Amino acid sequence: MSAMIALVPAAGSGSRFGAASPKQYLQLLGKPLMWHTLSTLAAVPAVDRVVVVVSPEDEWFDGFDWSIPKLEVLRVGGASRAASVRNGLVALAAQGDDWVLVHDAARCCLTVAMVERLIARLTDDEVGGLLALPVADTVKRADSHARVSKTVSRDGLWLAQTPQMFRSGQLLRALAAERESAITDEASAIEMLGLKPCLVEGEAQNFKVTYPADLALARVILASRKED
Ligand code: CTP
Ligand code: MG
Repeated sequence: MSAMIALVPAAGSGSRFGAASPKQYLQLLGKPLMWHTLSTLAAVPAVDRVVVVVSPEDEWFDGFDWSIPKLEVLRVGGASRAASVRNGLVALAAQGDDWVLVHDAARCCLTVAMVERLIARLTDDEVGGLLALPVADTVKRADSHARVSKTVSRDGLWLAQTPQMFRSGQLLRALAAERESAITDEASAIEMLGLKPCLVEGEAQNFKVTYPADLALARVILASRKED
């Protein structure tokens, strides 16, 4: 049986958020933001390990009591998200056919149900895939003055989310250093191998905390789940 490993890059600095500490450590319902992310992944019965990648210079991780089962920390973060994922993949010593679910630390409103939908859909898939959302709004292309130059058909357009689920060996090959400049997510690296990742419908709630207003939204969503 191949293992199922959640790999969570958390070595970013949160420059767009602009807080004193990286956004993954901001307080959210009395816990660091990524505590919610990591505990959801750990709560998925099919997930064997939850591996978080922080920066070698990280000053925050040890300051919290995480109390999350299956959790391991690797201090091998790199200069880009792709480098953090690649370093983590190398360090976590997986078998080539183990599944890896790469998930942004900053997507803290993930649910167990979303992860289980992704796993159920992909577990017999040759390639793997990702959660993504069909574009709902009308799409405009801007000119350099922020005026509309064109309305773009949204037909067939999806917004990529995470988790992105691929075989460890194949993902490592795809994330080879020389390609890194063109890599924006794991799926794009897999695409460069000529493969076609499967799009599995995600949810709007699985957004990435990027700006301060996103944290307020995450707080409302997580608090409303506690009330149920
Ligand atoms: N990440 C990482 N290593 C990096 C950059 C990003 O592990 N060198 C992680 C972040 O911690 C985050 C995820 O990748 O969980 C998605 O990245 P993003 O939302 O862009 O976070 P930051 O890079 O921290 O934010 P910003 O781009 O605003 O600086
Ligand atoms: Mg970033």
